[in-house]
Amino acid sequence: MNILIIGGGGREHAIARALSKSPKTDKLWCAPGNGGISAIAECFPEVKATDLDGVVALAERLQPDYVFVAPDDPLVMGLVDMLNEKGFKTFGPRANAAIIEGSKAFSKSLMKKYGIPTAAYETFTDEEKACEYIKTQNSYPAVIKADGLALGKGVIIAKDYDEAKAAVHSMLVDGKFGKSGSEIVVEGFMEGTEVTVLAFTDGKTVKPMISSMDHKRAFDNDEGLNTGGMGTIAPNPLYTDAIAEECMEKIFRPTIAAMSAEGRPFKGCLYFGLMLTKDGAKVVEYNSRFGDPEAQVVLPLLDTDLVDIMEAIWEERLDTLDIKWSDSSCACVVMASGGYPEKYETGKEISGLNSDGQTAADSAYVYHAGTKLDNGKYLTAGGRVLGVTAVGEDLKAALGKAYAAVGTISFEKAHYRKDIGHKALGK
Ligand code: GLY
Repeated sequence: MNILIIGGGGREHAIARALSKSPKTDKLWCAPGNGGISAIAECFPEVKATDLDGVVALAERLQPDYVFVAPDDPLVMGLVDMLNEKGFKTFGPRANAAIIEGSKAFSKSLMKKYGIPTAAYETFTDEEKACEYIKTQNSYPAVIKADGLALGKGVIIAKDYDEAKAAVHSMLVDGKFGKSGSEIVVEGFMEGTEVTVLAFTDGKTVKPMISSMDHKRAFDNDEGLNTGGMGTIAPNPLYTDAIAEECMEKIFRPTIAAMSAEGRPFKGCLYFGLMLTKDGAKVVEYNSRFGDPEAQVVLPLLDTDLVDIMEAIWEERLDTLDIKWSDSSCACVVMASGGYPEKYETGKEISGLNSDGQTAADSAYVYHAGTKLDNGKYLTAGGRVLGVTAVGEDLKAALGKAYAAVGTISFEKAHYRKDIGHKALGK
């Protein structure tokens, strides 16, 4: 089987590696891909994931058996629909289902209509009405979300009225997130523990994967700005079997049924961002794709062939597949460019990687997030650069191996968190 993967970050590297392990896989292509992915897939750096016509033209030239669409933007923009119309089989939801991530107003109203637990909210397009609501609620922190995609930056947690008012103004009046912020969601802040659960679904059956925990803030002790994710661990020890059962009954199955009832069957990987509150598990957000860097720790623990899962989802027979997981743990430490998530420099030479982009420490695997291969040298090419990942018999062992490998890699102004997994270990 020949598979074209769309995307070019650490998540796509993890997907490419999982697909490459399948005996069914012959050829892997990735557009645009990156330096590290090029060791296992032929990459097309000139075809960006959001260049929908370019991707379709590439698919028509390559004639892949499947196209695996990984990032949010092309999913929300309708790439899967365009590929299906041309007769290609795909992994990923069509646009009418990817809206579950593409519009916060849509996902909140879906949850309200179908009784899926989440924070109370209202949506606004008018600044004055939004501010009035915030004043009446008088509950801080208040959460202000841009309706559409905003590179993971469209959520502001305001600690008082002045901050909330400024956030509303920045989105609705100043157009901080462009069209994505022309409608906003204002919701209550949920206290608790965050858990990510990715789930395979064919629109009828939902099969949750192993749970994980992201570390979104830039610095240790959850300080600094929100990032795309500075590290992950799986499984998340705070997500017990009892909580998993509760989530299956009150959140996972109802969400899949709700999407189908709305005529929007979701096929692919649905990301459940959950908060375990004192009143039970609630949805913080849905994403229409694998998380990044959650995929980097979840997929290495998958014992079932990802190609078999992809085919079962396409053929809507996920109920017939028994998906198996390893009993081990996995940890990923993201090495980022100094300054990320704000301004940072690129083009720095990375030392400590061999010609395949891997470390000599073969107990770890390096997922490339933002790198480029230039005359045989790996250079930094993004904010998040590498996801150094290791599997161990338990979380402590996995973290030990991942951090040991991080110590063998360097580039100018490299930055990484030293406390990935500490919360999960109860530190
Ligand atoms: N790690 C968070 C996300 O993928 O959205």
